Amino acid sequence: MSKTDKPLRSRQWYEGNGKSAFMHRSWMKNQGMPDDVFDGRPIIGICNTWSEMTPCNAHLRDLAEKVKFGVYEAGGFPVEFPVLSPSESQSRPTAMLYRNLAAMDVEESIRSYPIDGVVLMAGCDKTTPSLVMGAASCDLPAILVSGGPMLNGVVKGERVGSGTAVFRWVEELNAGTMSQADFLAAEAGHSRSAGSCMTMGTASTMAAMVEALGLGLFQNAAIPAVDSRRKQLSQMAGREIVGLAKNRVDISSILTREAFENAIRVNAAIGGSTNAVLHLIAIARRIGVELTLDDWDRLGRDVPTIVDLMPSGRFLMEDFYYAGGLPVVMRALGERGLLHRDAITVTGQTVWEQVRDAEVYDKEVIRNWDNPIREQGGIAVLRGNLAPRGAVLKPSAASPNLFKHRGKAVVFSSIEDYYKRINAADLDVDENSILVLQNCGPKGYPGMAEVGNMGLPKKLLEKGVRDMIRISDARMSGTAYGTVILHVAPEAAEGGPLAFVRNGDWIDVDIEARTLHLDVSDAELARRSEGFEPQLPPINSGYQRLYRSHVEQADLGCDFDFADESRPLSVQRISH
Ligand code: FES
Repeated sequence: MSKTDKPLRSRQWYEGNGKSAFMHRSWMKNQGMPDDVFDGRPIIGICNTWSEMTPCNAHLRDLAEKVKFGVYEAGGFPVEFPVLSPSESQSRPTAMLYRNLAAMDVEESIRSYPIDGVVLMAGCDKTTPSLVMGAASCDLPAILVSGGPMLNGVVKGERVGSGTAVFRWVEELNAGTMSQADFLAAEAGHSRSAGSCMTMGTASTMAAMVEALGLGLFQNAAIPAVDSRRKQLSQMAGREIVGLAKNRVDISSILTREAFENAIRVNAAIGGSTNAVLHLIAIARRIGVELTLDDWDRLGRDVPTIVDLMPSGRFLMEDFYYAGGLPVVMRALGERGLLHRDAITVTGQTVWEQVRDAEVYDKEVIRNWDNPIREQGGIAVLRGNLAPRGAVLKPSAASPNLFKHRGKAVVFSSIEDYYKRINAADLDVDENSILVLQNCGPKGYPGMAEVGNMGLPKKLLEKGVRDMIRISDARMSGTAYGTVILHVAPEAAEGGPLAFVRNGDWIDVDIEARTLHLDVSDAELARRSEGFEPQLPPINSGYQRLYRSHVEQADLGCDFDFADESRPLSVQRISH
């Protein structure tokens, strides 16, 4: 897979005695660089999503220093550069609106800079897919270093996961059973170190996807952010990328169809986030690998969830690492013929060489294969006249008694409509109803907010109802669960059938049969769609206009329609 006959790309900038090479070298020398860093050694970009507005990534500058040590040790020359850092906790309306913008930033930075390989530094939910998408479009050697999860949240002796106890604390504060001082103390105990959310939410899922794809080093997903071994991993990544750059091992050598299939099965075994479906499809499309919703359903269907992590389980990422981490899970898959063992990783070793000796140290956290948390860990893809291009559901987070259900629709035309009416005394809803939320998809929101796991009506909660079927074109936070059908495509704002559901319509859901049927005739649906005008919120910026005009539907990963597969990097025009 090496292409050592090709000259290093950075030589186009730095080689020779012409005016152009002089200028490129001279300006870099204002940082104190000696002559010999331009002698032909690989120039390694460190693409960093460090930002104090993305607290999950605020330690990535420190880790980048360790990456630089590794690059120097291996004979490369590291150059760090910043890119847009969508922040899950701080960006409004949703960080997902900015994933594609960040991916464009990464792609164009890599294209325009004189680099031969890149280390991608990410952590918070959207930073990981945006970096991999951007690098995939360029197809040069790349390694991703995740920032790692925060230490376990601990509040008054109770182990709490990121976001898992927030609703309870707010309710207790409002009810007067929790003091203001305890509330503020809970905020600090809940997020007590550098790092990303420490449940198996989207950030941890995507870090696991990176490791499963072979794009990150062994144990990339689970080493806590502040554990010294995270620094070691960063330094090792710096060493590895130089070898990849020297041997021209491009990211397309790693991100193969087999690698994606491994990642999908790993997602099932860890009970990963539904957001991974969108992100992996978007990455695959950029690298030119065919990956569909049906692959998600087929490959994960018979894989049990063996990792007992919040939000649906008991433990947290720190526990997962001490129990042996992702290599244990991958070994278990490999021993059952559910892993492409020969898939190559960024170390040059195969996946199997990396994980075959992994040992489990806590069988409560990582269960035996025949003692799983959930028998069905994958992603169910439902289709029918309500979701012609598919919708997803996480069976491991759903209630078995709702797997086959017929209920009447209670429709909300927007998330604002939902907030206004969900607790109205006269809302015609009971525990058999199906809550339907429209206009929260990629174009309708825009950005496809994480609101699909709508809270239940208060009057049903008071009756002891804990789960109902919910259907929307929205996403769901990786820290949420319930019988929640998401990512309905096409979305309501695109004129999908979801837009034409009315209160009282019967809906049939059959998760085993993978069907989602609106019991309304085609003729009636056609009548309802006459004169359809999408319900769209006002556009606030030029970027939002671009987003709404070009974002793809959920089944295609919500990337831009113009951001197709990788294009060659080799030819760069010189402007001076
Ligand atoms: Fe950044 Fe959860 S908010 S990882």
